[in-house]
Amino acid sequence: MKITIEAADAADLKARPDDNNLGFGKYFTDHMFVMTYDQGQGWHNARIVPYADFTLDPAAMVLHYGQAIFEGLKAYRDSDDRVRLFRPLDNLKRMNRSAVRMCMPEIDPGAVLETLKELVRLDAAWVPRAGGASLYIRPTMVATEAGLGVRPAARYLFFIILSPVGAYYPEGFSPVKIFVSDKYVRAVRGGVGEVKTAGNYAASIMAAMEAREHGYTQVLWLDAVERKYIEEIGTSNIFFRFADELVTPPLSGSILPGITRDSVIKMADDWGIRVSQRPISIDEVIAANDSGSLKEIFATGTAAVISPVGALSYRGNEYVINGGSTGDLAVRLFDELQGIQYGIRPDPHGWGMVI
Ligand code: COI
Repeated sequence: MKITIEAADAADLKARPDDNNLGFGKYFTDHMFVMTYDQGQGWHNARIVPYADFTLDPAAMVLHYGQAIFEGLKAYRDSDDRVRLFRPLDNLKRMNRSAVRMCMPEIDPGAVLETLKELVRLDAAWVPRAGGASLYIRPTMVATEAGLGVRPAARYLFFIILSPVGAYYPEGFSPVKIFVSDKYVRAVRGGVGEVKTAGNYAASIMAAMEAREHGYTQVLWLDAVERKYIEEIGTSNIFFRFADELVTPPLSGSILPGITRDSVIKMADDWGIRVSQRPISIDEVIAANDSGSLKEIFATGTAAVISPVGALSYRGNEYVINGGSTGDLAVRLFDELQGIQYGIRPDPHGWGMVI
């Protein structure tokens, strides 16, 4: 892919925030990658430019019918001061699966990875040095053709922006309290729950707000048909440790195939832990908590990394999980995953990529 690079003037470079107080998604770097798609022409005009506003026609189809997909991955600074990506091609390939489902054009994952590396190298000074902090990378595609007919657009914009981030949840690695929703549902099989499209996140906000009003950090979604089987937590996948079995819901069409989820399954498997991908009912979780066989619950995601769950609220009752503490397996997985991501531990699966 031919790209042009227009670097920002030195005088226009932004002041960088304090690495120890980044929050999540509040700051954006000096540059972005942009390319345009036109039907009949394909992707063209690929360029790295100073970070700036877009101009969009008010009839741009994304603003009306929501053809919008995105990804989230991270760059980490290792102890040799190099920058590393974690499984970047997996994200770009997943983006193509989202594109197919949303009738949007696919990208060339290898070529986009090269431009992504170029962009991160240009803004490498923004990759934080503080422990637990990283540079969040947000590839996004939206329909920009002006038109009000409901059909696939003929014009799209693909862009990548970068944001230095700390922990996603204010609790950091401390256990979060989760509200089980049986009033709202996130997705149904045959819908778009298994792809990373903007509308899934818009649809989740009301339940998240209600959870917050009740004093909980996020929502645990149940299946849309029986409102009984566990699906996801907020914007993350979920794992349960029942005695010596690690369990996560199967990829049955309504949950996102998380890359951290896949990494956790592979790490646990490498350690000889029995991992099952099977349906788990909320009743099974409560019964196992009552009997003591539920040892821990944690969420996984690029933004959330591994987030332990300390309490669940369901139908007016609060269930404390593992005494409200972080479980041993969550700690072990967190240390291993972050160790690989920051290049401190061996990387047997070749997930890290120094750029
Ligand atoms: C991620 O974990 O990268 C996500 O996409 C979650 C995000 C909505 C904050």
